[in-house]
Amino acid sequence: MEKFETYHHDVLVIGSGGAGLRAAIEASYAGVKVAVVCRSLLGKAHTVMAEGGVAAALANVDDRDSWKVHFADTMRGGQYLNNPRMAELHAKESPDRVRELEAWGAVFDRTDDGKILQRNFGGHKYPRLAHVGDRTGLEMIRTLQDHGIHQGMDIYQEYTIISLLKDGEKVVGAFGYDREKGLFKIFHAKAVIIATGGMGRIYKISSNSWDCTGGGISLAYHAGAELIDMEFVQFHPTGMVWPPSVRGLLITEGVRGEGGVLRNNKGRRFMFDDIPDNYKGQTSTDEEEGWRYTQGDKNAKRPPELLTRDHVARCITREIKEGRGSPHGGVFLDIAWIKEKLPNASEHIKRKLPSMYHQFKELAGVDITKEPMEVGPTTHYIMGGVRVDADTQMTSTPGLFAAGECAAGLHGANRLGGNSLSDLLVFGKRAGEFAAKYAKETPEGKINDAEVEEIAARALAPFEREANKSGENPFQIQSTLQDMMQELVGIVRTDKELSEAIGKINGLKELAERAACGGNRGYNPGWHTAIELTHMLTVAEAIAVAARERKESRGGHFREDFPEKGDEFGKINISIKKAADGKLEVKHVPKQKMRDDLQQIIEENK
Ligand code: FUM
Repeated sequence: MEKFETYHHDVLVIGSGGAGLRAAIEASYAGVKVAVVCRSLLGKAHTVMAEGGVAAALANVDDRDSWKVHFADTMRGGQYLNNPRMAELHAKESPDRVRELEAWGAVFDRTDDGKILQRNFGGHKYPRLAHVGDRTGLEMIRTLQDHGIHQGMDIYQEYTIISLLKDGEKVVGAFGYDREKGLFKIFHAKAVIIATGGMGRIYKISSNSWDCTGGGISLAYHAGAELIDMEFVQFHPTGMVWPPSVRGLLITEGVRGEGGVLRNNKGRRFMFDDIPDNYKGQTSTDEEEGWRYTQGDKNAKRPPELLTRDHVARCITREIKEGRGSPHGGVFLDIAWIKEKLPNASEHIKRKLPSMYHQFKELAGVDITKEPMEVGPTTHYIMGGVRVDADTQMTSTPGLFAAGECAAGLHGANRLGGNSLSDLLVFGKRAGEFAAKYAKETPEGKINDAEVEEIAARALAPFEREANKSGENPFQIQSTLQDMMQELVGIVRTDKELSEAIGKINGLKELAERAACGGNRGYNPGWHTAIELTHMLTVAEAIAVAARERKESRGGHFREDFPEKGDEFGKINISIKKAADGKLEVKHVPKQKMRDDLQQIIEENK
């Protein structure tokens, strides 16, 4: 039997994106011994793909902004299923988190008087997104990483965690392997923080990196933690549609924030045709006024392109379905038109949206300063995930914390753009602080050797199946899953399709039990995928089951067979847990109560 190398830490952080790094910094400040496990190399986290900005009510561009308006916008965007305490903490604390990042060296774009510049984004009443051109996530990771490595944390690069380890009810560490040699390792820890991001890669078309497979959500679920809101998947309205090799790649909402407009193949700005009642008073139906809004006119109303993402994505889908789409199956996003308004438009676009300019020029041969882009919806974000305590980020499993996209509660039924970067700063910090506190108060638990041996044997089974010629191709299972999720659990859902999806997921689970791989354990993508399938299928099942259970349409979840909001569903979250028999258990749980003072803020901002 292989002897497993064991590392001992007080706090183990799984994931090295913005939430993981921010958590690790805070835990290190508390004086405990911290480890960060990265699936890839440090700095290659999916957070670097976040483009348009970080939302924080700094009020630098419009002094009417405040944490209260940010709170009310976030709750309305989330269709009031958000955890109000999380939305309160997020709105109150994000300005400090952004200023702190600046103090650590982040170089934000500036207003003329030298403050951090903020731009418009959908659903935010005032210009609120602090940004670095359209490379905000990259600058954030650079800063967190530079600051973090000086805090004395241990970094494990190119490691994959297969399972959490428990002592009774408590999480006491994790088991995984280094990708270079494929050797198993035990991480023995007093507290574990999951900060593994999202799951976009279980869909065929996604803006997410290869490693966003829902791993952390699945690890937590199998360790007994409760999941909520898994039905709420965000399809970002604008991903690339051409060429096929980059289909799904993000086109920042910042393009629309800077004045970009959406048109169909008739040249019509179709977003004017469908403005939801709850945004009517704040949305312009006049082209000129919409432009003035994007240029900072405080008296103008927002253009309809800056409505919430769920709505914009559905309008685009409608145009494509009804035959008014672009040649490659999208619609047109036009920022070049601003040359009618600005004498130096071309330079302006390149300065404000440098990545977009290069992305289209190099990947699609399109000059966005001269011609429109072709865009279509792309799987971008999951609002659901592991349920956490709002203040401490502890999950329902003792010793296990979660922060960032894999944690649920802040965004409710739909997330506003830019709120993910502030989410990971605010709640990454909190997770680090409270995990460190827990670690100081808790003795190291016991690792169960038999449990570890069993996980290791299961992880190695794909090699034996290959040797016996009895296995299934893991890449084929993954690709079937991605196609199926795209087709049956996408933007528009029905009971029939969701039931079909659940049946197919069960079939794929059986195949995954027989997944096989050849070669050796070092850098073996077939083996990584065979192991990963458990996570992808767990998360896919949770999404499909929760989506079938929510028989209404709200936020990111649209049911063609229940197109309206349902009163009863406005009072509950859908909760998912692993039952004692190993099966998935689904429940309706009352949503978090809102304090009267917070309710009052919402009324005042209606
Ligand atoms: O469009 C964007 O730049 C994406 C931002 C976000 O999802 O927060």
